[in-house]
Amino acid sequence: MTNTAEIPTHIAIVMDGNGRWAQKRKRPRTFGHQAGLKALRKIVEHAGKSGVRELTVFAFSSENWSRPKKEVGRLMDLFMRALDRETKELHENGVRIRFIGDLAAFAPEMQQKIDSAMTQTAENRKMTLNVAANYGGRWDIVNAARKTAEAVANGQIMLDEVDENYFSRQAALGDSSNPDLFIRTGGEMRISNFLLWQCAYTEFYFTPVLWPDFAPAVLDEAIATYQSRERRYGLTGEQIKDRYSA
Ligand code: FPP
Repeated sequence: MTNTAEIPTHIAIVMDGNGRWAQKRKRPRTFGHQAGLKALRKIVEHAGKSGVRELTVFAFSSENWSRPKKEVGRLMDLFMRALDRETKELHENGVRIRFIGDLAAFAPEMQQKIDSAMTQTAENRKMTLNVAANYGGRWDIVNAARKTAEAVANGQIMLDEVDENYFSRQAALGDSSNPDLFIRTGGEMRISNFLLWQCAYTEFYFTPVLWPDFAPAVLDEAIATYQSRERRYGLTGEQIKDRYSA
């Protein structure tokens, strides 16, 4: 018996494949993003019911700005509408919404909606939905390094007191546990600059399923795979057995 027999507390998801899903149907890529939002809605609900406490989804990477202007514009519209429409229901269901990333790059109207969704849901504790927007793992690490350097320069902490725990708290999701499970849909098997620091010991699950087709049953499958794994954190299998049978 290992600790992975439990439901993962925190799941990170790269929701890939919206564009291909739409292209297969001879529809514009935006149609795929709309379907992706519907899939996300179902997954948040299902994850909550399954006992997952935190979901972190990659909605827009720092690199996504380089997509065709029209697609970027449509994605921004979709985010704004989603914030308008979904916040109330998420709030009623006890979901706290947080955004991580360099939010200053977004239009003031969008920043306002983000702020308002975060403030409105800040006290909710049933589940946390972190939306990574204009996020990049390297940006996150550099940002944490800057904050750390500033704290050292201001005398808030001594250089030799800076350790992994301190640094983790300066990075995004610093007050959360690290993701237990990382899921990427759409067939690509890479991390694509998502949560680089936070995923040091995370279990990875890759599936060819395109994000809009990621039904609750596929999440169950990912969780079951996670539960069948043994997380060793650099220890031997024997050591882990001793630790968890004690
Ligand atoms: C990747 O698919 C998906 C995105 C860049 C956008 C993800 C956004 C959503 C699912 C909407 C969620 C909305 C909120 C408010 C969180 P892709 O376009 O890279 O697909 P492809 O690899 O098939 O081209």
